[in-house]
Amino acid sequence: MGTGALVPPIDPAEIGAVVRAAIDAGHLSSDAPAVLFHDLGRLARGLAVLASTFPPSALHAVAIKANPVVGALRHLVARGAGLEAASFEELEIARAAGCPADRVVYDSPAKTEPEIARALERGVRINADNEAELARIDRMMRDRPSASRLGVRLNPAVGAGAIAATSVATRTSKFGIAIPEDPRDLAPLFDRYAWLTGVHVHVGSQGVSLEQLVAGARRAWDVITAVHAALGRTQVRWLDIGGGLPAVYRPSDAPPSARDWADALARAVPALFDGSIELVTEVGRALQAPCGFAISRVEHVKEASGERQAVIHVGADLFVRPTYAPSYWYHEIAVLDARGERKHGPKQPWTIVGPLCFAGDVLARDRPLPPIEPGDLVFVRDVGAYTLGMWSRHCSRAIPAVLGYEDARVAELRVLKPRETPEDVVRAWGG
Ligand SMILES: Cc1ncc(COP(=O)(O)O)c(C=O)c1O
Repeated sequence: MGTGALVPPIDPAEIGAVVRAAIDAGHLSSDAPAVLFHDLGRLARGLAVLASTFPPSALHAVAIKANPVVGALRHLVARGAGLEAASFEELEIARAAGCPADRVVYDSPAKTEPEIARALERGVRINADNEAELARIDRMMRDRPSASRLGVRLNPAVGAGAIAATSVATRTSKFGIAIPEDPRDLAPLFDRYAWLTGVHVHVGSQGVSLEQLVAGARRAWDVITAVHAALGRTQVRWLDIGGGLPAVYRPSDAPPSARDWADALARAVPALFDGSIELVTEVGRALQAPCGFAISRVEHVKEASGERQAVIHVGADLFVRPTYAPSYWYHEIAVLDARGERKHGPKQPWTIVGPLCFAGDVLARDRPLPPIEPGDLVFVRDVGAYTLGMWSRHCSRAIPAVLGYEDARVAELRVLKPRETPEDVVRAWGG
């Protein structure tokens, strides 16, 4: 166990050509001082690892919330991925990414009736969150039958991982129906709804252990077997085990690999691997995080009571979690010169601060880094998940461009999302 990431992290030494291409094409300049990059080749390789580790029939519905950039999702969908949507708007994103309806999974604890109606019309897979939603779906299906496959989210209550805010299988979790002490107690629910053919669990995102991930799937399987025994028939055809495979952020991180996850699942729930039940996963972070990096020009270098500070153009707007909860979230940082070559030299502690108007807008404190000058570029690693997708409009700064490439040496850039203009921002605020 603890043998690693889906794909290796991006090395700042490998992206010089990509950064130069962005500068030469005008994507990175004093007027466009920050850019996000997504390595689409790495993304495809990560998906291939996932696909080859699990049975070929498994549906890998990549969590859109991790990285909603349509071009990146389209790249995954074209290679066989499905998508997990956490809102009606994410269903629209899935459609824009070209995802066939039967590869879309719609999870949300707060779906409105019109949203469910549209999802049923499209035939996407839906995981109901609670009994009221199941009753609502039942009523709606009577008026209009649907091709949607329908499941229910259960809370396996395996407890919190290392990060409370991203642990969703606690006893007081707002998600799903709590699994009762005797799982047979859920049989009447399945008996009432013959269309209820799926079970969904999701334990958390980053900070949950392999044991917790696997225990969540096992508890779901125990429910399925108990329900089938009580009903005297097989009704549940698919088990959605959610996401939660951790990403590597710190050099010391040694998360379980996809192989570790699959092996432990195969021991705990062999049925997922012998064709008895269809497997669905909803991986986000482990696949997307290592494929993205951010580059920002250094606008100013300052010294405040002996603290060396580099002022850059992304802060708590892009890095919501690392700035508000720095004890949990971390990104590796490197310094490049103005043309994208990695800088070396004697390391000193540097504090990397963002552009927003509050004191907590700090991306990294006292990092040992080589000398930094205005005009240098700060490289931030593992930015491919839960960064842009959590963008904060505080101070109304423009969302940087997102550029994709398939091979860092060839450095052919694709604009996945153009940089926002000041007019775009005014429009976003109703102007
Ligand atoms: C229901 C659900 N599925 C999947 C995911 C993806 O988790 P991760 O990105 O950790 O793989 C999340 C993340 O919050 C989620 O809420």
